[in-house]
Amino acid sequence: MAESMKGLHRSHRCTEVSTSNIGETITVMGWVQKRRNLGSLIFIDLRDRSGLLQIVFDEPKVGSEGFAKAGTLRSEYVVAVTGTVEKRAAAVNENLKTGDIEVIATDIRILSESETPPFPIEENSLTKEDMRLRYRFLDLRRPDIQRNLMMKSKVAMLLRRFMEQEGFLEIETPILTKSTPEGARDYLVPSRVHPGNFYALPQSPQLFKQLLMVSGYDRYFQIARCFRDEDLRADRQPEFTQADMELSFVDVDDVIEVNERLLQYVFQEAIGIEVSLPIQRMTWQEAMDRFGTDKPDTRFGMELVNVSKTVAGCGFGVFSGALENGGSVRGINVKGQGGMPRKKIDKLVEFAKGYGAKGLAYLSINEDGSYKSSFAKFMSEEELKTLVEKMDGQSGDLLLFAADKNKIVWDVLGALRLELAHQLELIDKNLYHFLWVTEFPLLEWSEEENRFMAMHHPFTMPMEEDWDKIDSDPGAVRAKAYDIVLNGTELGGGSVRIHQNQIQEKMLEVLGFTKESAYEQFGFLLNAFKYGVPPHAGLAYGLDRMVMLMMQCESIRDVIAFPKVKDASCLMTDAPNVVDPKQLEELALSVDRQEQSSVE
Ligand code: AMO
Ligand code: AMP
Repeated sequence: MAESMKGLHRSHRCTEVSTSNIGETITVMGWVQKRRNLGSLIFIDLRDRSGLLQIVFDEPKVGSEGFAKAGTLRSEYVVAVTGTVEKRAAAVNENLKTGDIEVIATDIRILSESETPPFPIEENSLTKEDMRLRYRFLDLRRPDIQRNLMMKSKVAMLLRRFMEQEGFLEIETPILTKSTPEGARDYLVPSRVHPGNFYALPQSPQLFKQLLMVSGYDRYFQIARCFRDEDLRADRQPEFTQADMELSFVDVDDVIEVNERLLQYVFQEAIGIEVSLPIQRMTWQEAMDRFGTDKPDTRFGMELVNVSKTVAGCGFGVFSGALENGGSVRGINVKGQGGMPRKKIDKLVEFAKGYGAKGLAYLSINEDGSYKSSFAKFMSEEELKTLVEKMDGQSGDLLLFAADKNKIVWDVLGALRLELAHQLELIDKNLYHFLWVTEFPLLEWSEEENRFMAMHHPFTMPMEEDWDKIDSDPGAVRAKAYDIVLNGTELGGGSVRIHQNQIQEKMLEVLGFTKESAYEQFGFLLNAFKYGVPPHAGLAYGLDRMVMLMMQCESIRDVIAFPKVKDASCLMTDAPNVVDPKQLEELALSVDRQEQSSVE
């Protein structure tokens, strides 16, 4: 029978008890991790979110009723124990924070019993994630997940503290709102009062934070929930949290400056990592050329080399063909891997094809200086020598080349570089490499839509020196946009915003909006801008990603209390789910295709 809390007060969390409490009477409460009977003594490890504490039940001390109760305890029972703290009688347990003490119980209450849990509550669980997510409330009792969530709370607190010190105001923005143009699909919420009309959940507070600048709240900040209906990956969730900010009367360097200090403060206080300032900066173009990606992992080398000029006019049709089609030929030098067996190289070719490559050309340099290569027969001795030199090839190296349109070559070699670094264990996990990537292209051509799209969003300011190319060569216009990258993950991103109506209108025109459609979608912003708008800029971090990187988790799910799985469903609540026909009727909705939920 579950007992009550009447007259009881917890005096300590389990690991708040230490040798300094020896001789004191304390009361602790928590879950039974395990029970051991040792003849006349019963031991339990009591667990709360701080950790474990050993309790000893000795009949003369706890009384016969208490001793009998202790004998019924099973894993995950919730108990309250009062007792005296003593130095541990047996050997000290070095693995426990409280390993040098124990509590000799004088009283026990069973606050609640528990069925046998479907999996053990322990660190580094081997239980399949599906099972853990179904019983997330139990999974969340595990110390590793608890550490992650405690860290997330701490990081949110540190961010707030920093922002407050810097004069930012925390202001909430609506969740039921109008579509924001961040590029993903919206989650829609039907309106009952306005049949056939929908709210969109915010993909970010972007438009509202810009409006707050118009309204004079010159430094805004919010820990904001965002919603994006996009394909999930290890570092993406359909709902996630941004640490979002916007500042007035600033340019790129001002935003970077305050954020560098923010990162230094938060990483130092949260995980004791010193971020040395200034953080390295790299233009988007340089990042693509050197790493094949706009979020390079700079903890290791193996940089891309553009060999287009070197192989121009060579006899290898794959190379010359790519160049004739306006593409490029680039390579990476996998140091010391010249002896890689053919089978393994074939696997790399398959991997490259997964990223759109038609093939992958290789050349290994044998120890005696001779070559083994998929294309050597198409090139002269001299051509090969120059190519190897350009790649800084030494004996024992493996050179890999991709030839295609730039985008494909970058994608392929960028991914291959990361894959090889993992396979060859080239990455030092203790390093935290921050990098600003700047000067992103303003626009990106979409094959799918057959038009230019905003690379960041439509309110991003173009670089002044490029603006005259907006009609003649829109793809060449760079933006005042920046991303902060940590160890190859995009931690955050932002931009200076357009605050001149003429530029904004031109930008919307290039993006294919008519004046009417632009006003229909963002009229409230465009109108607001007619009434005195300060120059402004901002940035948003993915808070979940930040904590994921701090705690070196493999998945963003490990830092979110109740995450969704790959198909955006929640295994515990079974959301999304069908609704009562009455609800649909109230909303003036009818459903013409319905999937029954696959989760029992
Ligand atoms: P952006 O779209 O780059 O910018 O988002 C900012 C940061 O949010 C995180 N993030 C995500 N995290 C988890 N799951 C997702 N699905 C997800 N999508 C994004 C990333 C990303 O860097 N309004 C602009 C910011 C601005 O311009 O100020 C914006 O939302 O870490
Ligand atoms: P092929 O003449 O098509 O047999 O190709 C000769 C070599 O070039 C093979 O090793 C292919 O994998 C490689 N190859 C084919 N297409 C490409 C490409 N686009 N980029 C790099 N290598 C390629």
